[in-house]
Amino acid sequence: MTVRHFLSLMDCSQAELIGLIKRGVELKALHRQGVVYEPLKNRVLAMIFEKASTRTRVSFEAGMIQLGGQAIFLSPRDTQLGRGEPIEDSARVLSSMVDAVMIRTFAHADVETFARNSTVPVINGLTDSLHPCQLLADMQTYHEQRGSIQGKRVAWIGDGNNMCNTFIQAAMQFDFTLSVACPEGYEPDQALLDQAGDRITLTRDPREAAAGAHLISTDVWASMGQEDEAEARLKRFKPYQVTPQTLDQADESVIFMHCLPAHRGEEVSCELMNDPRCVVWDQAENRLHVQKALVEFLLVD
Ligand code: CP
Ligand code: NVA
Repeated sequence: MTVRHFLSLMDCSQAELIGLIKRGVELKALHRQGVVYEPLKNRVLAMIFEKASTRTRVSFEAGMIQLGGQAIFLSPRDTQLGRGEPIEDSARVLSSMVDAVMIRTFAHADVETFARNSTVPVINGLTDSLHPCQLLADMQTYHEQRGSIQGKRVAWIGDGNNMCNTFIQAAMQFDFTLSVACPEGYEPDQALLDQAGDRITLTRDPREAAAGAHLISTDVWASMGQEDEAEARLKRFKPYQVTPQTLDQADESVIFMHCLPAHRGEEVSCELMNDPRCVVWDQAENRLHVQKALVEFLLVD
C-alpha cells in the first residue's frame, strides 16, 4: 500500500478535507467532555523543527499524548540532519523507528524529498511555500462560526506568502473565491495562481479585496527566514494593515483570521485583535483538534 502524506491540501480529496474538518469538531467536543480516546497507543510522531514554533509544536505534541501516543521533538541543532546527513538517509532511518513524521523547514522540496524516502506518513508543519495544517484549523473555525465556506468570498490582505499560497489551494479545495491584495513584487506563487484560475483576483487595493468579503485574513509581513528584509517590508506593507475599518467594508457576517504570531501595529491593528469579529484564538485552538483528526486519518486503519 502506498503511504499517504499530507504535504499540501491537494494531497486530500475535497470529501476527505471536509471529513477532517467535521472530525476536528467531533474530537473537540469529546475533549471538552473529558472523554478519553486513545487509538494511537504506542504510536510515535517525530517532529523535525528547523524553524521556531509555539502552536504547531504544542498542538501536535499535546494531540499525540491525548490520542494515547507520544511525540518526539527534533531540532537540527541536536540531530545529524543539522550536520549534513542527507535528508534521504534521515527519512529512511527515522521512518523505520516512528509511525509518522512532521516537518517544519524552509524549502518545500526538502519535505517532498523526505516523503519520497519515508515508509510512514509525512506531515508538512510549514515550509516557505505552504502551511496546510493551519488551513485545516482555519476551515474548521469558519465552519464552526459561520457554516459552509462554499461559494463565500475570502480576502487575503498582505504578503503573498506561504499562508496566502495555502489559501489559494483552500479556495480550490473548499470552493470559495479569494481576493488577494498585496504590493507589487509580493504576489503569491504564479503556478498556483494559474492553477486556481478565475477563483483568485489580484489587486493592490486592500479596500477592494475587503469589499463584500465573508472572511478576511492576513499574516506577518516578514516570515521566518526573511528577518533581513523586515525593515524594508515594514515600509512597503504599511497601507496593508488590517483594522476594524477594513472589516467594516466587508459583508456584515465577516470574521477575521490570523494564523499567529500577530504583530500588533503592523499587519493587524491592536483594536482588531480585540474586536468581536476576530476569531484568532479559536483558530489557534483548532490546530489541536483538527490535527488530531489528521493523525487519526493517517494512522488509524
Ligand atoms: N501558526 C503557527 O503555525 O504558529 P507557530 O509558528 O507558533 O507554530
Ligand atoms: N508566514 C509565517 C507563518 C508563521 C506561522 C512564517 O512563515 O513565518
